[in-house]
Amino acid sequence: MDAEKLSQRWFLAAVTYFVVGIGFGVYMGASGDHAMFTVHAHINLLGWASMGLTGLLYRSFPAAALTRLAAWHFWLYQVAVPVMLFAVAAIYSGNKDAEPVAGAASVVVFVSVLLFWWAIFSARNDKAAIKRP
Ligand code: HEM
Ligand code: HEM
Repeated sequence: MDAEKLSQRWFLAAVTYFVVGIGFGVYMGASGDHAMFTVHAHINLLGWASMGLTGLLYRSFPAAALTRLAAWHFWLYQVAVPVMLFAVAAIYSGNKDAEPVAGAASVVVFVSVLLFWWAIFSARNDKAAIKRP
């Protein structure tokens, strides 16, 4: 996919996680119940911060955005992160059964980040695509 379009997709997801993440933070602050702070932290860090940075990187390495790796990275990450966050929230609510789900989802997140690394490194010397008009 075109780098501009792909980075915008990442930004749309990032800004959505930002709203949810700080909404959760405000709720925790207002209620005084910080039990789920780690879920809040990872909504903001895996969502807002990492997705926003990812969008910026694809703009710097536009050739990477054109690869199939980039598409796999996007979808695996977008599916696995919310699954992992809900599973971690379930664990913190006392549901131990969610542990394998959180574990499996975290491995998928990791795999998607490996694909990201691969996409960026495989395209890093594609100067023709990197050159902006
Ligand atoms: C209006 C915005 C926000 C509010 C009201 C808020 C609120 C909170 C609260 C109440 C805690 C729990 C503190 C504790 O019990 O130790 C917390 C923890 C945390 N928040 Fe936020 N937060 C906000 C935005 C953010 C953003 C934007 C990020 C990241 C980009 C973030 C990252 C974290 C992290 C990493 C922790 C865990 C800190 C630790 O390890 O003690 N928060 N936040
Ligand atoms: C698949 C991805 C990730 C997994 C499985 C993961 C897992 C964990 C675990 C198990 C903890 C300890 C929680 C506890 O003390 O109960 C933790 C804490 C933390 N992680 Fe992550 N993490 C991931 C991604 C990230 C990313 C991308 C960032 C930053 C950009 C980050 C920042 C932090 C911070 C600041 C803490 C301390 C605050 C907290 O406990 O929530 N993590 N993470």
